[in-house]
Amino acid sequence: MSTPFTPPALTSRLPQVGTTIFTVMSALAQAHNAVNLGQGFPDFDCDPRLLDAVNSAMRRGLNQYPPMAGVLPLREAVAAKIAQVYGHAYDPGNEITITAGATQAILTTILAIVHPGDEVIVLDPSYDSYEPNITLAGGTAVHVPLTPRSFRPDFNLIAAALGPRTRAILINTPHNPSATIWTAEDMQRLAELLRPTNVIVIADEVYEHMVFDGLQHESVSRHPELAARSFVVSSFGKTYHVTGWKVGYVAAPAPLMAEFRKVHQFNVFTVNTPVQYGLAEYMADPAPYLGLASFYQRKRDLFRAGLATTRLKLLPTTGSYFQSVDYSAVSDLSEEAFCRWLISEVGVAAIPLSAFYPGGFEQKLARFCFAKKDETLELALSRLNACFA
Ligand SMILES: Cc1ncc(COP(=O)(O)O)c(C=O)c1O
Repeated sequence: MSTPFTPPALTSRLPQVGTTIFTVMSALAQAHNAVNLGQGFPDFDCDPRLLDAVNSAMRRGLNQYPPMAGVLPLREAVAAKIAQVYGHAYDPGNEITITAGATQAILTTILAIVHPGDEVIVLDPSYDSYEPNITLAGGTAVHVPLTPRSFRPDFNLIAAALGPRTRAILINTPHNPSATIWTAEDMQRLAELLRPTNVIVIADEVYEHMVFDGLQHESVSRHPELAARSFVVSSFGKTYHVTGWKVGYVAAPAPLMAEFRKVHQFNVFTVNTPVQYGLAEYMADPAPYLGLASFYQRKRDLFRAGLATTRLKLLPTTGSYFQSVDYSAVSDLSEEAFCRWLISEVGVAAIPLSAFYPGGFEQKLARFCFAKKDETLELALSRLNACFA
């Protein structure tokens, strides 16, 4: 009889990676029956017209492999939207690819452009997939903090981080977790800084349609000089309340996109056919994405008005569906300890901002997600007011 195979102890490709704070907090929220304003996804459904469009595509038999870059009607719809909203003409033939969400788009971009020994500038606090993606490509993440509290990019620090090994810089606007946005001046400063370099910009713009108070989203695609060196990433999950569908896109100049597609075709090859046709049909009406800012601004205002009567101090929210609060007037606990306590004692889940910094950084800030039904927000607000009013 042969002895059973014992798998060898693996040398981890990602030794630093453990269970994410989102998983930990969501499990804790469930165990305590807390209102979960932690993880960033809606608790309401998408437009039934979108479901009908996908369903109709399935029933029409559009269920086999689509072209590697995505179905042409969807690439055309994305190109038309970008041209109309940001004024940049991407060729749907060779400059737009449909991806399995923004997460895959960012990983594939990084695998396509980063070589071992390359550096990629990451602005902290940052989305948790960036650094592991860079590590998998054999690169090194060079962390540059956004200015504490204001979360503004510090161009002196970014300039100091640029060097001969810098392959790319990752930017994210509107920003998760701080809910701040980049201005046109910020984009101009970035363009000037990068002008003498070959550095590529990876612009994570998944919250592009959630910018409030009459301000506009400064996509890198609005800025011709930046667009020429950028991959722009977005997510239908965020825009159309379908985060579980995991469909997004990336737009980039043809030579950059050619390298992206080489990796993409051996990564996922392509993504869900009927969802792509359904999205293409739904995108013909711009009202859903053009109306998203006012949809979420109303929720932001409802949530902020409810928090204004507490001792939690509100940070500004100009974009995304996140609201951060400074809890220093109510607790001395560390951010993670405070969020754990908030779940077990108050019955509301939030995410500590320290989770978005490598090695943590304590500012007594917690992030709530307001992409929730009004009644969910009202229940959370009544619990927060009962404790902190
Ligand atoms: C900044 C940022 N980038 C990317 C993503 C991932 O988007 P997707 O679900 O399309 O992969 C998220 C989702 O939370 C995000 O907040």
